[in-house]
Amino acid sequence: MRQLCIATMFALGCLCTGQASAQSALMKQAQGLFKPIPTTAPALPGNAATPAKQELGKMLYFDTRLSESHALSCNSCHMIGMGGVDLQETSLGHRWQHGGRNAPTVYNAVFEVAQFWDGRAKDLEAQAGGPLVNPVEMDTTPEHVIEQLKGIPGYTAAFAKAFPGVADPLTFDNVRKAIAVFEATLITPNAAFDRYLKGSEEALDANQKAGLELFIGKGCVACHNGINVGGSMYAAFGVIERPGAEILPPDDKGRFAVTKTASDAYVFRAASLRNVALTPPYFHSGKVWDLRQAVAIMGNSQLGADLNDGEVDRITDFLGSLTGDQPQVMLPILPPSVATTPRPKP
Ligand code: HEM
Ligand code: HEM
Repeated sequence: MRQLCIATMFALGCLCTGQASAQSALMKQAQGLFKPIPTTAPALPGNAATPAKQELGKMLYFDTRLSESHALSCNSCHMIGMGGVDLQETSLGHRWQHGGRNAPTVYNAVFEVAQFWDGRAKDLEAQAGGPLVNPVEMDTTPEHVIEQLKGIPGYTAAFAKAFPGVADPLTFDNVRKAIAVFEATLITPNAAFDRYLKGSEEALDANQKAGLELFIGKGCVACHNGINVGGSMYAAFGVIERPGAEILPPDDKGRFAVTKTASDAYVFRAASLRNVALTPPYFHSGKVWDLRQAVAIMGNSQLGADLNDGEVDRITDFLGSLTGDQPQVMLPILPPSVATTPRPKP
């Protein structure tokens, strides 16, 4: 009997050690492919962060007076507290117009190789001017933004504090700089997957580990890797099999519009999968509401892999481990309009 017990203990011991080393191998592999989200905002080159600049950027992010109608702010389409998205297929912009693409999250956008689904803006600073002047988003002009902000007395002091020692700090460039500095604070560290990458075996459960193994083994990782589990490169949507027009509308050729290179037709930035469980609907078209379906589509379109239900479930479990601590943002008190402040345009 005693012998049996010892034999059983030995066998269990081997099993446990065996499991532990298999898990560690997976962890090591993951550590070579991905990186945890840092706990502090990264520095932006040529745009040093200060508390005053961050606060100004936050004010601008929430101020609807930056739009022509005074009805929309950055937060209308990238809602803090809701994954940094609007949960719409395509966003509702100026005069209830719908844009052509789904709004990606602003969370962790600072880590992307470039901004927008087609990477047409090189960084957050370059991006921030885009929605302000986009006719289906905020529909204003750089000149009007400045006229508007100069018409709100509190902003003069806020810009002077954020950009000290500058003769005329209230410029469109500085609007973009301040917004970018605020956006760089919108990061989501401490996801279960980050804790795993930092060495905690318990951070992922067995299903999530099985999903991670599939994510690596099936080849998702070829395009979704690095700090954002994506967002670092471009690829055709439909490397193996182009999805139907209901998911990949033929009139949006993605990066082709930026590079005018034939091989860039239907090429998009491989999406970041950070917080992906919080940000339906999926793809640049926003046509897919179920993350499991998005995973299955990717299997077919990018890898030619017909993932079975169990595999889709496990990969989806793993994607759930990418939800990090959401930014806690105290709403700014915006400087009041006065009698002479430019009014909303209908
Ligand atoms: C894309 C920030 C206003 C809808 C983006 C991205 C950022 C951003 C950083 C790129 C994210 C990425 O590529 O991962 C801002 C800021 C805004 C603003 C700072 C205010 C100045 C808006 C508004 C709307 C909107 C008001 C909706 C009416 C979109 C859409 C995209 C996008 C549809 C994707 C467009 C494309 O890829 O062609 N925004 N956004 N944004 N935003 Fe905004
Ligand atoms: C988008 C997962 C493989 C390139 C996405 C999205 C998910 C996903 C969930 C939508 C994200 C969102 O809209 O927020 C996966 C999984 C894969 C896989 C689970 C493995 C089964 C790949 C591979 C490539 C790739 C191998 C590159 C060859 C892309 C691109 C997009 C994307 C370009 C953006 C598509 C668009 O909307 O235009 N992926 N992916 N993916 N993925 Fe993958």
